[in-house]
Amino acid sequence: MQQFGVIGLSVMGKNLALNVRNHGFSVSGYSIDRSEIDAFAKYKDDKLKPTYSWKEFVDSLEKPRKILIQIMAGKPVDETLQKLLPLLDKGDILIDGGNSNFHDTNRRYHEMEKHGIHFIGMGVSGGEEGALHGPALMPGGDEDAYNEVAPILKAIAAKTPDGRPCVSYIGPEGSGHYVKMVHNGIEYAIMQEFAEIYDILRKVAGKTDDEMSDIFANWDVHLVHSYLTEITSKVLKKKDTLTPDHVIDHILNVASYKGTGNWMLEDGVSLGAPISVVAEAVIARFMSKATTREGKSVVWNGEVPADLVDNLEKSLQLAQAVSYAQGFQQLGMAADAYNWNLRYTAIAQNWEAGCIIRSSMLKDIENAYMDGGKFKKLKNLFQDPYFKDLLNKNIHSLRAIIKISTDAGIPTPTLSASLNYLESIFNPTLPANLIQGQRDYFGAHTYHRNDRVGVCHTEWYEEK
Ligand code: 6PG
Repeated sequence: MQQFGVIGLSVMGKNLALNVRNHGFSVSGYSIDRSEIDAFAKYKDDKLKPTYSWKEFVDSLEKPRKILIQIMAGKPVDETLQKLLPLLDKGDILIDGGNSNFHDTNRRYHEMEKHGIHFIGMGVSGGEEGALHGPALMPGGDEDAYNEVAPILKAIAAKTPDGRPCVSYIGPEGSGHYVKMVHNGIEYAIMQEFAEIYDILRKVAGKTDDEMSDIFANWDVHLVHSYLTEITSKVLKKKDTLTPDHVIDHILNVASYKGTGNWMLEDGVSLGAPISVVAEAVIARFMSKATTREGKSVVWNGEVPADLVDNLEKSLQLAQAVSYAQGFQQLGMAADAYNWNLRYTAIAQNWEAGCIIRSSMLKDIENAYMDGGKFKKLKNLFQDPYFKDLLNKNIHSLRAIIKISTDAGIPTPTLSASLNYLESIFNPTLPANLIQGQRDYFGAHTYHRNDRVGVCHTEWYEEK
């Protein structure tokens, strides 16, 4: 009998199955696409078994069955559950490793619970390479069921620089997919920050692609050590095969999306989470499609400050921290609203390796949520002394960068949003009192006073 099963054998499912096999566990694979099974069958050995029907697949697995569903999110997942249900036994464990919407995962978790089936919604990050060599895994659902599959998940997951697996139990219901959704929102935010920094480097500092590639490579071993820094350097370096130029200069500047970042924004709005940088990153992708492309490119004729590149590095470091801070802030609000006991240190650890947003800063975030071995609650990441210090050290650079980009006419939606966020979070005199006065004026919506308790209303209209 096989210890683990994988349904869906396109590149992610196949690579995850191979990863399981490569760690010494036996695995069966099945797909509704016969050509995928045939490709999988090329790896057949005493631990890897291709199967050719739902029944053969299910019957090949030891009980309780542990089945990873690695297919396109949406309706196909529900269809797969309907195919599997009559063949399963109570206590079997289903893991959805796709980018499913957490609302769907909540529903499926409770539907499966009625049948005595444990349903785990698991975020998987790291792309096809990660799937084969070590992804970051974010499993949510029933904790006992997680403990049953934990040995396999821990074996296949990426490992942090200090050797801990990038997987741990996230929380109940759809919380695993929620955390993956937030991961992707942060991914959108940091990617857009890189794009804006690139724009300033080329248009204000006048750097060539190779120079920019070297700058990012240097930052990767200095203040912004991250996977996205590393690949940005590589993307900028790559020569084209069709022209003598770099590929980057022939890539159409219209950003696509499958939408998981947009989901974070949708839920953030429903929770009232101040995730302005994620919002700007989502909208920047919309803008890349919506812009008319009339007009001229920016040419900066002004002075190029000697500390421009240093200020850009510090701005990127700080803006990256703001993206994480907003992600963790939304997680905290979701945990309260949905009654999930999320473990922020574990989430930071899960993201330290294997995933797209991995960076050395995640270790600092893990530390921020720890206090002498115990979990520390933070309303905002910047309340932690390490991040407060980072803010104080780098905010002048970010202000300088926003100033010069404004002068040059370069849009900086996420960098500006990062600065505005930082100018707001420790600000006791934000001007929302005026909004409240206006609301009370036109709609008698009432307000609270800053000098006494209770709900107030003012008669604003003077008697004539
Ligand atoms: C990951 C990625 C992965 C995928 C994104 C792309 O963690 O491995 O996030 O899930 O690359 O979903 O998203 P967009 O197509 O929306 O940019």
